[in-house]
Amino acid sequence: MEELRIPRHIAIIMDGNGRWASRQGMPRVMGHYRGAEVAEEITRACIDLGVEYLSLFAFSTENWNRPREEVNLLFELMRNYLSQRKRDLIDLGVRIRFIGRRDRIGKDLKLLMEELERETSRSYRITVILAVDYGGRDDIIRAINKALRLEFDSLDEDSFSHLLDLGDVPDPDLLIRTAGEKRLSNFLLWHLAYTELYFSELCWPEFTREELIRALEDFSKRRRKFGRVLDE
Ligand code: IPE
Ligand code: IPE
Ligand code: MG
Repeated sequence: MEELRIPRHIAIIMDGNGRWASRQGMPRVMGHYRGAEVAEEITRACIDLGVEYLSLFAFSTENWNRPREEVNLLFELMRNYLSQRKRDLIDLGVRIRFIGRRDRIGKDLKLLMEELERETSRSYRITVILAVDYGGRDDIIRAINKALRLEFDSLDEDSFSHLLDLGDVPDPDLLIRTAGEKRLSNFLLWHLAYTELYFSELCWPEFTREELIRALEDFSKRRRKFGRVLDE
């Protein structure tokens, strides 16, 4: 077998929580609960594999259009989960960063996010980037407005990308989307320009280390050309 190539940065669109729960005859929110546990398990797997950055899409700018009750439960779950797991995440060596808008989420969650970023800022085993109220287009528009405020005369790709939420984080090498859906749903639009894509049929709550390894085996066979001609 070929050697497993480990991406520096993996991005995941964790999809299918609701479908998984409905299939088991449970309310959709149970899928989100299970999904949070899987996110932690996959974080551990990424640490073991030596992945440097893991970006997880947790709530999109479009997810506000879901029923009010589901939105409230999702944010409550996020708050509870992050405050309960804070100590363990620190012990694990996880540096946490959040990307997305901060002006539409509750004050409690916002404070908790700031606290987590501060308290994990010296952790070094992996950087986990949680995308909350994140949209790729919104990220780009906010960056443009920042550039206008800072009165830039002109921008190039490098200076522009530093104005985006991910800042100096390298672009994802591999994007995984679960639950059989084959679209980007407004995730990291700028950064995914040359990312390898992997689509898993499993719903996020049933995603496993083994499925992650399958994605990495597939990734290891890809020839990333970045527009060039490679020697045959
Ligand atoms: C992904 O699962 C989690 C979020 C978008 C918050 P979904 O809730 O989208 O689950 P499905 O796609 O409806 O099954
Ligand atoms: C994308 O999933 C957003 C997250 C995983 C947080 P959605 O379930 O919201 O995407 P669509 O609506 O199927 O495109
Ligand atoms: Mg979905």
